[in-house]
Amino acid sequence: MSQSITHQSSERTGKELSALYEINKALASSLDLQERVIQILATLSWRLAMKRGTITLRDPASGELAIQVSHGLSQKEQARGRYRIGEGITGKVFETGKPIVVPDLRADRRFLNRTGARTAVVGQHLSFLAVPIKVHGETLGVLGVDRLFPDGPGSFEEDIRFLSIVALLIGQAVKLHHLTAQERQELLASDRETRNELREKHRSVEGIVGQSRAMQEVFDAIARVAQSPATVMLRGESGTGKELVAKAIHHSGPRSERPFIRLHCAAVPEMLFESELFGHERGAFTGATEMRKGRFELAHQGTLFLDEIGDIPLATQVKMLRVLQDRRFERVGGNQTHEIDVRLISATHQDLEAMVRSGAFREDLYYRLNVVPITLPPLRERASDIPLLIEHFLRKYNKQNRREVRLSAEMVELMASYHWPGNVRELENCIERLVVMAETNMVSFGSVPTSLRGYFADMRHVSQAGSSLETETLTGNLEMIERDRLTKALERVGWVQAKAARALGISPRQIAYKIRKYRLVPDTTSLS
Ligand SMILES: Nc1ncnc2c1ncn2[C@@H]1O[C@H](COP(=O)(O)OP(=O)(O)O)[C@@H](O)[C@H]1O
Ligand SMILES: [Mg+2]
Repeated sequence: MSQSITHQSSERTGKELSALYEINKALASSLDLQERVIQILATLSWRLAMKRGTITLRDPASGELAIQVSHGLSQKEQARGRYRIGEGITGKVFETGKPIVVPDLRADRRFLNRTGARTAVVGQHLSFLAVPIKVHGETLGVLGVDRLFPDGPGSFEEDIRFLSIVALLIGQAVKLHHLTAQERQELLASDRETRNELREKHRSVEGIVGQSRAMQEVFDAIARVAQSPATVMLRGESGTGKELVAKAIHHSGPRSERPFIRLHCAAVPEMLFESELFGHERGAFTGATEMRKGRFELAHQGTLFLDEIGDIPLATQVKMLRVLQDRRFERVGGNQTHEIDVRLISATHQDLEAMVRSGAFREDLYYRLNVVPITLPPLRERASDIPLLIEHFLRKYNKQNRREVRLSAEMVELMASYHWPGNVRELENCIERLVVMAETNMVSFGSVPTSLRGYFADMRHVSQAGSSLETETLTGNLEMIERDRLTKALERVGWVQAKAARALGISPRQIAYKIRKYRLVPDTTSLS
């Protein structure tokens, strides 16, 4: 008797050992996790008469337990195997982190038979064993097997001990898989981010082109402010893109389907201001032959863009302040009060603060308007955007004029070092003229159309005065590309030279030399 037990247990140990050997081999293989675990369950099944093996893991999305891998279950049966934590035997094992043995499935009501897989075998003596899959004390899931006992119940402790080892191995594999999956996801996410970043940097937000850090901050500000109804004030020299940004804010926010109304304050005669803003009733004044809605009313539920706000007459400033405070107004010559639901964006190139000090602009109105200031830097302070803008406008005007004009590297370099007093507007006009006037498709300095010669000669004059780059001795493309790569690498790492050097695979001494050579400086502009 005792001999037979010894014999039985050594036979069993032998089987277990070879099963473990196979399991380890499966885990070490290059198969994916799912396939490795399927192999493990298969091994359990044919080596150890553990018929239906299931691996149930917690689905991080639903928080539910779901059978991830099974052996001996159909797809349908497997799909039904979902449990809440604490529900059924699988749920209990997960909850408590302790194994459960159901010696006789037929006699135990805890067993839910949710998969429906056991109906065909009810005649057989089946036990169910479930052990937690744990790593470092954290329960990841449950390993469950049906144990067939043709000769009556056997030693469950042995089974549990063995299954716990298997569960540990599986757990490590799962954890490893999770880690790498997470790492992969992180990698993918950061990859996506870089790609988005690149796309955004190189392309545009709502048609606004820019890769410089200053413009990245403007893009961020647009995104942040677009979702709120906050009053925005855009600052920046003429031609820096204030109107473009105002439209971008409107179009990327919840009011995008509603009107965007612009009032160019500098263009309105003083006596017509009120009527422009608030409208008038018929007969309100001489010449008011019809009722007319004002900009506030037209912009209802949308955005009102007050361009060149510094040009509002003082008398109008008072009325405007009242409207902004009360959020209501009357048409000129009318007594019906209208509520306003308007997002206000104003813009100016003027020094409003100085105007406030000198009394030309009301301080209270200034504070009402200057809730979220966004400053657009002058183009000369973001020279790294110039090649992109050139490309952008070339595309635009080539299309418009059905041409394929390109600029030589020398021309791009010249333009990138020019100070552009008229900012992007001036650059845009310049490219348009070149496209329209160019005699050949490749414009170099020597082939600038006669009518534009003077302009470009001036440009070169100014550039040479302000830059060490001599357009004559340019070695062309290569230096352009190098300079561009350096700038981008430096911008990416916040101008930490050692980091940029590492990223570019050059020594710190080399990068220092190149920075001096190209006179690279960070964009100093930022949001005010
Ligand atoms: N970052 C930019 N990307 C593309 N086009 C721009 C950019 N900034 C300005 N522009 C263009 O330059 C011109 C002047 O811009 P605008 O918004 O009217 O400037 P502002 O209102 O500051 O005077 C417009 O044609 C505009 O489309
Ligand atoms: Mg403008």
